[in-house]
Amino acid sequence: MQIQKVSCFGAGYVGGPTMAVMASKCPKQTFVVYDINEQQINKWNTKQYPIYEENLNEYINKTIDKNLIFTNDIDLALKDCDIVFLAVNTPSKSYGLGAESQLDISYIDSCLQTIKKYPLTRKLILVEKSTVPIKTCDYINAVLKNLNICVLSNPEFLAEGTAIQDLLYPDRVIIGGPLESSQQLASLYEQWVPKDKIIFTNIYSAELSKIVANSFLAQRVSSINSISIICDKIGADVNEISQCIGSDSRIGNKFLKTSVGFGGSCFKKDLLCLIYMCESLQLDEVAQYWRQVYILNEYQKQRFINLIITSMFNCLRNKVIVILGVTFKAKTNDTRESAALMIIKKLQEEQAILRIYDPQGKIDNVEQCQSLDGIFQGASAIVIITEWEEFSKIDYVQAFNQMAKPSYCFDGRNLLSGDLMKSIGYLYYGLGRQYWPIFTEQDDTKTFWNKKSINFTQYTIIY
Ligand code: UDX
Ligand code: UDX
Ligand code: ADP
Repeated sequence: MQIQKVSCFGAGYVGGPTMAVMASKCPKQTFVVYDINEQQINKWNTKQYPIYEENLNEYINKTIDKNLIFTNDIDLALKDCDIVFLAVNTPSKSYGLGAESQLDISYIDSCLQTIKKYPLTRKLILVEKSTVPIKTCDYINAVLKNLNICVLSNPEFLAEGTAIQDLLYPDRVIIGGPLESSQQLASLYEQWVPKDKIIFTNIYSAELSKIVANSFLAQRVSSINSISIICDKIGADVNEISQCIGSDSRIGNKFLKTSVGFGGSCFKKDLLCLIYMCESLQLDEVAQYWRQVYILNEYQKQRFINLIITSMFNCLRNKVIVILGVTFKAKTNDTRESAALMIIKKLQEEQAILRIYDPQGKIDNVEQCQSLDGIFQGASAIVIITEWEEFSKIDYVQAFNQMAKPSYCFDGRNLLSGDLMKSIGYLYYGLGRQYWPIFTEQDDTKTFWNKKSINFTQYTIIY
């Protein structure tokens, strides 16, 4: 069977860019992106894209109204369709058994109910694109029993901010499920992905591989963050350690940047899904191993907040604090699970006056500045949460001159040169780079010298 028409349920972060790139690479096929949310579809159709991704416009412009359609019309999506991708959201369950841990597949379920009601006239290949709990394929088969369908798992590994590049040049494409249908799906990818990058697996392996990949990546971040904490105590430099260990080809140099904690819609929920699965299988030691990755991430965020509050002498009330970045990483407008959410909440509890700026991201119910103009005037502290390039280009001398004294800078991304910031006069804190006062259990009060702002500061850290 030659694939002619492909549909995708869900016009979000995954569905939109994935279908746009597929449509541009597979000109002989038609791609229909279907969503229940009318506003979402209108945004795609009026070029006010609901997501920010570099070069996304280019791929939409190339294909829209040629072989790419965004619609709320289910008939347009399912009529004579050969392949349906399921790319709807699968957040952590917020209720009932497995709340906050297990993935909520109710949106997948509602897609299945829609498909079940539709009078299919030909075989349909149903592809799990969203991250789903292991064995969701069995559930889909049970719900759609007696229909002429075949379920495959083809998890998406694109990262936000680099979605288009990741889709154009994937490290691998994983297709799990019965071979004949897998090969039909592969015939789409083969139009731009080298054949040796397409891996065929059994369907459970494909489902699990997505959750494991994200958990491994989260583990890398927690591992390096744990080392940054040691560095803060002993005066080693975590960036140097990343370089030293990353040049071992067995370890590799990616995902070794220390940070104020990983965020985003995937790491936490996939990690918690893995932990939940281990617990369900009564694999307590394994669950504990992975849980520690999550705990360390929460600890890193908490530690950063404590540093801000304690180094400002627990007296933030009515002080102006500039927050640079609310997205969970640069080059995206996504703020889901961003460390900014927790940090902003805690600083509000301290009754600080926040001036928040992000070039793309917006947090609900919080006032944000539209630009950096005047943002530093009278501020006591700068808190860097996202590694936007724009933040490394700020004139920090000018900012320092406008700020209240002492002027603090808490750099949650090691974005700036600590030595430079200190030479300007800031009380600067990076992560794991000797910029935290070193203290011991016996001596948790440290004094240190600052040349320009104030002469002598007493520092107490409370964990
Ligand atoms: C290790 C380090 O690799 C080396 O850089 C350091 O200088 C000394 O310690 P070694 O102990 O000789 O070297 O062996 P290595 O190849 O690293 O394996 C260590 C253990 O891990 C072995 O028992 C090996 O079987 C096991 N291993 C390794 C696995 O179980 N799985 C793997 O994928 C790799
Ligand atoms: C991730 C996976 O990378 C992707 O393959 C999967 O499909 C979805 O989840 P994403 O969440 O978009 O992608 O972002 P990613 O670049 O992986 O970063 C996740 C978080 O880890 C961010 O908060 C980032 O700042 C943080 N991170 C990443 C670090 O703190 N240090 C690093 O070295 C790398
Ligand atoms: P992801 O990051 O997985 O792409 P998003 O939340 O960005 O998730 O997008 C998921 C999209 O799926 C949303 O636009 C949502 O409206 C859509 N959606 C949810 N349920 C259904 C459904 N039953 N049918 C079609 N689309 C759906």
